[in-house]
Amino acid sequence: MLKPKARYNVAVVGATGAVGQEMREVLEERDFPVDRFLPLASERSEGKTVPFRDREVPVERLTEDAFTGIDIALFSAGAERSRHFAPHAVVAGAVVIDNSSAFRMEPKVPLVVPEVNPHALDGHKGIIANPNCSTIQMVLALKPLHDAARIRRLVVSTYQSVSGTGQEAIEELFEQSGEVLNLRQVKPRVYPHQIAFNCLPHIDDFDEDAYTKEEWKLVRETQKILEDPGIRVTATTVRVPVFRCHSESVNVEFERAMEPNEARALMSAMPGVVVLDDPGRNLYPLAIDAAGTDAVYVGRVRADHTVEHGLNLWIVSDNLRKGAALNTVQIAERLIAEAG
Ligand SMILES: NC(=O)c1ccc[n+]([C@@H]2O[C@H](COP(=O)([O-])OP(=O)(O)OC[C@H]3O[C@@H](n4cnc5c(N)ncnc54)[C@H](OP(=O)(O)O)[C@@H]3O)[C@@H](O)[C@H]2O)c1
Repeated sequence: MLKPKARYNVAVVGATGAVGQEMREVLEERDFPVDRFLPLASERSEGKTVPFRDREVPVERLTEDAFTGIDIALFSAGAERSRHFAPHAVVAGAVVIDNSSAFRMEPKVPLVVPEVNPHALDGHKGIIANPNCSTIQMVLALKPLHDAARIRRLVVSTYQSVSGTGQEAIEELFEQSGEVLNLRQVKPRVYPHQIAFNCLPHIDDFDEDAYTKEEWKLVRETQKILEDPGIRVTATTVRVPVFRCHSESVNVEFERAMEPNEARALMSAMPGVVVLDDPGRNLYPLAIDAAGTDAVYVGRVRADHTVEHGLNLWIVSDNLRKGAALNTVQIAERLIAEAG
């Protein structure tokens, strides 16, 4: 449990990565009450520094005893590191907020989007899970609709940016785009196929029934966060050559009537959601506009006439902000508000 303090010692595990860098920026921008800032990464980053509040802070190596004196540890260095090191951070007295998939589906670990299910934080045991980026933006938009008309079924197709894979994938898209435009041969490293000027219907590993783990995250995390295992979800997750922001086409079937105008009004009133929906003016959410911003944007709200109570939505958000770093810091803000 977090003890009330004026300022907190905060570790960022994976501080040199795509999400870790964004976490540092979000902590600064939101003026999070940081006393000591401890950036942790692998031995590859030893000797590097990262900027934090007009200072260059040396990156330290992630070890089991790195967490002495740390109050809050924000993890984003992959599931393997979280599984091994998060329990050590908790024993050292820190509260862990974990961005990886390591603990999300453990029944006693809260999986939290603060605007949607903040009550799940009550009675946590030291580890709190941040949901997957594609789940966060979807449940934020859907929560007020579910409360009003009960969602029965979701059919989701995602268009996910390369920053969702991490720093190396961002570099790969830059390099490959140059190679293709200069008529040079492309050699994929991060993805199994060329990502520049291409779409890959493959995010994370395939399981035995031909779905990917990313697709299952959308199913199971949605049910856990909305606290409704009866919501049926089917998903196809696609990596697209976009640097930042995930876009999602979401078909929703409700138990009760939900007209597009009512849905727009409900989503507009939801904290963190912005409705951009004026097709006559070519106004709908776009990845390039959402990049670097905090909101979840929804547009193309329209009735699905093939079912009794259906809607189609287009949902866009920055996967590194609300999909990762911002949501994590918002969870930490809730914890300190409750502690104080
Ligand atoms: N990208 C997203 O949109 C997103 C969204 C939600 C959740 N996540 C999750 O966040 C985590 C990080 O993602 P990312 O996109 O930031 O990846 P990334 O850009 O590849 O960064 C990985 C970070 O982890 C560190 N790391 C790797 N191996 C390590 C080790 N053995 N010991 C200590 N540190 C190690 C790296 O340090 P070095 O620089 O020293 O190698 C780097 O700081 C993943 O679990 C991912 O699933 C990502």
